[in-house]
Amino acid sequence: MSEVIAIANQKGGVGKTTTAVNLGASLAVSEKRTLIIDADPQANATSHYGFRRNSYEFNIYDVLRGTKDLRDVVLKTALPNLELAPSNIGLVGLEKELYSKDYAQKEMILREKIKPLRDNYDYIIIDTPPTLGLITINALCAADSVIIPIQCEYFAMEGLAQLFTTVKMVKNKNPSLRVRGFLPTMFTPNNNLSKQVFSELKEHYPSELFPNLAGEDECGDEYIYIPRNVKLAESPSFGKPVILYDVKSVGSAAYQNLAGAILSGNNPIATRGAKVG
Ligand SMILES: Nc1ncnc2c1ncn2[C@@H]1O[C@H](COP(=O)(O)OP(=O)(O)OP(=O)(O)O)[C@@H](O)[C@H]1O
Ligand SMILES: [Mg+2]
Repeated sequence: MSEVIAIANQKGGVGKTTTAVNLGASLAVSEKRTLIIDADPQANATSHYGFRRNSYEFNIYDVLRGTKDLRDVVLKTALPNLELAPSNIGLVGLEKELYSKDYAQKEMILREKIKPLRDNYDYIIIDTPPTLGLITINALCAADSVIIPIQCEYFAMEGLAQLFTTVKMVKNKNPSLRVRGFLPTMFTPNNNLSKQVFSELKEHYPSELFPNLAGEDECGDEYIYIPRNVKLAESPSFGKPVILYDVKSVGSAAYQNLAGAILSGNNPIATRGAKVG
């Protein structure tokens, strides 16, 4: 059984792409067949894996507008178990295009396109843009679960209510969608504000956080967080996930811990269901 996981938060710059790219790579290294779908016109996940605009012909825009099947655009990456459906800035015009045509099931296009390929993968991870528009809704309609990265900074929780409303709305079309978990990102242990945001998450949403199976090591306490780490910030410019750029970094360890929690399936939400969504 494969799992389709959307990484979503309409707030910009919170670590969605970093999470999609590095969780995907960590799952692939754990020998899980993994597909990353870059559903953001910014195409950051695509370039993070080292692909440049002219190094591939077709992309997810061709899939969503119906001129290609998903399998026609999939690229192999440097990791044997990891494949990528790349994006392109052209995707920015998709929403207008879909609204101008009379598609009955505009929200379900990606779900339908994934369906024939689901069994080829153990995990399909969708990186989404910083909006709650039609592309993100397509991702949520296609997903079994959603991971919500939350940056440990001021305004961290702002917009979460709106995101939950969207998740609830999508559940009318995709009843099995569940919130897989919240992922505190860019945590800085010696920064008071960062600690405060993480404490608030632990206090109010303990069952939405991923338990840290690796124990209270250098990059996690009882719950998983992603530390602010320069190797995570540098790795995109080298066109590599952090596990290939610096496997010994705390950033790499943190995403491997997250993959461990996903693989164990024993995050509390998996069994109890989330409070939200
Ligand atoms: N844990 C981290 N430590 C250091 N830098 C990070 C970390 N996570 C993300 N970054 C950096 O922060 C910036 C924003 O991260 P990212 O692109 O993953 O966010 P995003 O939510 O995908 O943004 P957008 O909403 O624009 O798609 C990037 O430059 C990324 O390299
Ligand atoms: Mg992004």
